[in-house]
Amino acid sequence: MTDARTADAFASSWNRVGGVYSREQFLEWFVPLTEGDLAGCDVLELGFGNGSLLAHVAAAHPRRLAGIELGDTIEQTRRIVGDAAELHRGDLTTANLGEFDVVYCIGVLHHLKDPRAGFESVLRHTKPGGRFHCWVYAHEGNGIIRWVVDPLRRIASRLPWWLTKYGLALPLVTPYFLYAKLMQHFPFTTRLPLGAYTLWIAREPFRFFHHVAFDQLVTPQTAYLRRSTIEEWLRDPRVGQAYVRFRNGNSWIFGGTRAE
Ligand SMILES: C[S@@+](CC[C@H](N)C(=O)[O-])C[C@H]1O[C@@H](n2cnc3c(N)ncnc32)[C@H](O)[C@@H]1O
Repeated sequence: MTDARTADAFASSWNRVGGVYSREQFLEWFVPLTEGDLAGCDVLELGFGNGSLLAHVAAAHPRRLAGIELGDTIEQTRRIVGDAAELHRGDLTTANLGEFDVVYCIGVLHHLKDPRAGFESVLRHTKPGGRFHCWVYAHEGNGIIRWVVDPLRRIASRLPWWLTKYGLALPLVTPYFLYAKLMQHFPFTTRLPLGAYTLWIAREPFRFFHHVAFDQLVTPQTAYLRRSTIEEWLRDPRVGQAYVRFRNGNSWIFGGTRAE
């Protein structure tokens, strides 16, 4: 079982964009972790894409910053992160890079053939007393995506990347962009399907919408994880204090400390 096809598909996306996240997005994604929790620490990212998050983490001055990514994106990542991070190419589920004070894995576990093996890697790389932080797509709140976008993804992920990006993602995301910008002005929006997410993404420019849509359609492997699955993972005896937060009504932020 390998994630190589998924990583190749993502590389076609990551190698054609620069840093995609604003500092505000980075800070919000990391809550409850702050830049102060990263400063002076050994920090690891599992599945770094093109280093868009590594670049923000580097600015928080960790002692050691490392990342591992299966896709062929090291060159593009170097352009974005410079020499601030140690970059490894490989499969995060089998990697052993040592133990870190902080391990984060954002937007990756739901793309693995075996998400539990990814979480196992998160715990394996977190030193006792250290902290881990993850973000995954939720089963809850994503009905429209699971029923409408996901069947399309199964077809789109077999097409050439350029056809998916410009022939599908672009025309599909354009009306959603206009809808999101309009919905910003109506307070009842949060009660509509994907309402909280729509309000969140409405602040972003069109190129971010296009990137997210392409990301959704290009990957051959996506799972939508239930809260009960996350809670079951967090009952692992190696986990100390833990948290789970529903983000934008359609994803889970979770993490905690590794028991001493
Ligand atoms: C949606 S991207 C997220 C990238 C980055 N964390 C971010 O938030 O910008 C998921 C990444 O996980 C990588 N990936 C998938 N399976 C992997 C594996 N088994 N080992 C390492 N990386 C993997 C993909 O190649 C892709 O770059």
